[in-house]
Amino acid sequence: MPIIPTSARGGVITGWGTALPEKILTNDDLSKMMDTSDEWIRERTGIHQRHVGGSTASLSVESGRRAIEMAGVDPLAIDALILSTTTPDRAVPATSARVQHELGLSCGAFDINAACSGFVYGLATAHGLIAMGANKVLLIGTDTLSRITDWTDRNTAILFADGSGAAVIEAVEGPGEMLAWDIAADGSAEPLLYAEIGGFLHMDGKEVFRRAVRIMVDSAQKSLNNAGLSIDDISLVVPHQANTRIIKAACERLGAPLDKTAIVLHRTGNTSSASIPLALFDAVDAGRLQRGDLVLMVGFGAGMTAASSIIRWNGKGLQ
Ligand code: UT7
Repeated sequence: MPIIPTSARGGVITGWGTALPEKILTNDDLSKMMDTSDEWIRERTGIHQRHVGGSTASLSVESGRRAIEMAGVDPLAIDALILSTTTPDRAVPATSARVQHELGLSCGAFDINAACSGFVYGLATAHGLIAMGANKVLLIGTDTLSRITDWTDRNTAILFADGSGAAVIEAVEGPGEMLAWDIAADGSAEPLLYAEIGGFLHMDGKEVFRRAVRIMVDSAQKSLNNAGLSIDDISLVVPHQANTRIIKAACERLGAPLDKTAIVLHRTGNTSSASIPLALFDAVDAGRLQRGDLVLMVGFGAGMTAASSIIRWNGKGLQ
């Protein structure tokens, strides 16, 4: 992917918010619904529980409102809304239309679907809009995978869940937070993970696992190279929350110690577009980032897509 021109107008995250449905489904709950066990799910995935419920619009409005409030911006001053989702509420219109209306925005709004890489695709898109003159962009990553999950299929039902994360990104003088970005896709892998319209998710878990590690490492390496950085310069890796074994294998290959990694998977499950913002803002809220720290986000998903980005944390939200 291209190196960011030094002349590009930059942006920084000035507010964020997350949302998880109230209803929690534990591994024990699942073991009553299908032939599985808490022990197996914890060992093979790292997941202990997940949140399910709500619609993509309702969760987006919740996280989006929090992000707008934290940034302290007038909703009417937002220039664009990008909603990353694989699970729109309707085929038409884009779910972002309802979210735009409910949040009291007057700007253009559109959905993007790059599966679990979507938030990072959206981050690059948001910074691109800012480079082209937008002043404030609201980026939301939301998925309600429970609605397209077959709750009798132990191959997928143990993994997927619902959630949302949002960020307000505002233009700044100078280069801004983004140091590098990479987006990738390999459409020939479509049969490995897909859902027909109105249908359930189908997945070749083993092959997705195998490819996931490789494409996450490839994408992360590209962003590091483009930014002229090494993994040792990174303070926090925020990987897509799919399976702790995938995260461990990718981090090991990248040379990133696990204590530098943001993980919420054990309590959220795989929330697709929401997984990276949920993990990132959990780490920020826990005080794990200082001003100037470098953050590497890296995702993979159906498509098969991959995406990564390196940002310099601007210090917002520090006590
Ligand atoms: O956002 C991207 C989304 N997708 C992913 O990230 C998926 C990536 N893949 C994975 O995370 C893993 O492949 C799974 C968690 C889906 C499966 O783990 P695995 O280690 O690849 O298990 P497996 O399919 O090789 O199955 C191992 C054994 C099998 O039994 P035998 O043949 O060894 O007797 C399965 O029948 O475990 C059995 N098994 C289960 N047992 C209890 C498979 N699923 C389950 C289950 N509970 N849910």
